[in-house]
Amino acid sequence: MSKVIVCDPIDRAGIEILSQVAQVDVNTGLPAEELVRIIPEYDAMMIRSETRVTKEIIEAAKQLKIIGRAGVGVDNVDVPAATRQGIVVVNSPEGNTIAAAEHAVAMMLSLSRHIPEANQSVKNNQWDRKKFVGAEVYKKTLGVVGLGKIGFHVATVAKAMGMKLLAYDPFISTERAEQLGCRLVDLDWLFRESDYISLHVPKTPETARLINAEALAKMKPTVRIVNCARGGIIDEEAIAEALQQGKIAGAALDVFEKEPLGESPLRSFGKEVILTPHLGASTAEAQVNVAIDVAEQIRDVLLGLPARSAVNIPGLYPDAIEKLKPYLQLAEILGNMVGQLSGKRVDYLNVRLQGDLADNDSKPVVIAALKGLLSPALRERVNYVNASIEAKERGIHVVETRDASIRDYSGSLHLSAKGSLGEHSVTGALLGGEEIRITSIDDFPISVAPTQNMLLTLHRDMPGIIGKIGSLLGSYSVNIASMQVGRKIIRGEAVMVLSLDDPLPEGILDEITKVSGIRDAYAIAL
Ligand code: NAD
Ligand code: MLT
Repeated sequence: MSKVIVCDPIDRAGIEILSQVAQVDVNTGLPAEELVRIIPEYDAMMIRSETRVTKEIIEAAKQLKIIGRAGVGVDNVDVPAATRQGIVVVNSPEGNTIAAAEHAVAMMLSLSRHIPEANQSVKNNQWDRKKFVGAEVYKKTLGVVGLGKIGFHVATVAKAMGMKLLAYDPFISTERAEQLGCRLVDLDWLFRESDYISLHVPKTPETARLINAEALAKMKPTVRIVNCARGGIIDEEAIAEALQQGKIAGAALDVFEKEPLGESPLRSFGKEVILTPHLGASTAEAQVNVAIDVAEQIRDVLLGLPARSAVNIPGLYPDAIEKLKPYLQLAEILGNMVGQLSGKRVDYLNVRLQGDLADNDSKPVVIAALKGLLSPALRERVNYVNASIEAKERGIHVVETRDASIRDYSGSLHLSAKGSLGEHSVTGALLGGEEIRITSIDDFPISVAPTQNMLLTLHRDMPGIIGKIGSLLGSYSVNIASMQVGRKIIRGEAVMVLSLDDPLPEGILDEITKVSGIRDAYAIAL
């Protein structure tokens, strides 16, 4: 039975799903060294934001297949290290969207009306109404940095409160922004014009310290800033200084460069600053959503099914996978075959999507072909996660082309590769949309259903040659299940594919290549 370690507090609903397929060990708050020690025995790991999954932990995780992050941000996981090791990293991209957006709106309103301080004063038996005169958000300008899922919901709520909307997001279309009557502007414009700024970007090298002293200097002295995205997008020292000098009016932060927040100048402010301990996703609803979402993906991966929100399988979107599933299997088989024909040290792989297939996303198909190409060398070490990286590291140049005009079959796939054994190509199609057929080898037309053990020869089309190969195989007790020959002209060059019931014994290939007329022979094992 598979084993899953749950390293951070996760809602019960998630544990129940995991328990359907695995032994679940809930072991929270482990020091990194302890995790390095025990991780080799686990197939899956589930975390929230507290556990840092470092390169050391990943390298020790010899049988880990999946890391599930019950939340959005995966910045606490060394994703490149996981990818390198073929470990799928999944998250819950939508499970806590509403929770985080509502927290940001609550922060904006609390900051405007000094609710936390006012609340504390009443609890301290004071009744000071003058001290807590606030500001309205109605007709004020909100600048949203990052108009993704959370930013969009914040903007929607803000619009309903009568706010004017500006947004900065270089990856979002003008139409999407205009849906909300939100104007896409550059950052300087947003900094200059906004009365409120709410951050909803991931932490990346471009967004780290996006709000620094220079940015703060461009803002209105009345601006209030909310960060419910990630710590480190704001320079905390710079914001404390700007508040001190009256250059901005307030800041509400849920996330910090270092969590838990240690010594910080921000702690000493009064009503201008609100600090919450990373509570954006902390609603009962969101915790159930993310736990179920991620646990289901871990369960699926342990059962050999694809994950729907993998962050490190480039281009493999669930809808595309579903639609292309039979073609992915075809691509893997063709990649495997062309790899065995071309030999080691492959220089390039050319993947051509033909006919109707040409209208589809090529990425999943290319990844499947690379997985097939590398599997004779890397075996189970190569998977959909690391196939592209492994190919890149081996200097395999990948070329993708499309030709919708090739319509021998409704959709077909042509792979060619050059390696130590020369340049070869294999084409395949799906009969009736599901049955895999090899339809050409080195451009010789053929129709072969691929099997586990095959003998492939390139030879001169001449009388007796097929019989000689047959008797040779017979002398080694190898049973032939089927045979197909393809040629372009009579007595010219030809290809023969024999499906065998048994693997080819050692040494037989040398004997086959000595048969007169045989140019090359290959044992293909799938
Ligand atoms: P998302 O991917 O839907 O949206 C992020 C948006 O940022 C995208 O539209 C993207 O185009 C944009 N973006 C990326 N780089 C940018 C850049 N350099 N400049 C401007 N825009 C850029 O993500 P989301 O679900 O909306 O999450 C947003 C943030 O909130 C993430 O950092 C996530 O980790 C964080 N989050 C925090 C909490 C919390 O508990 N406080 C909860 C959930 C999510
Ligand atoms: C997230 O990225 O989803 C949030 O930071 C919430 C969490 O920490 O779980």
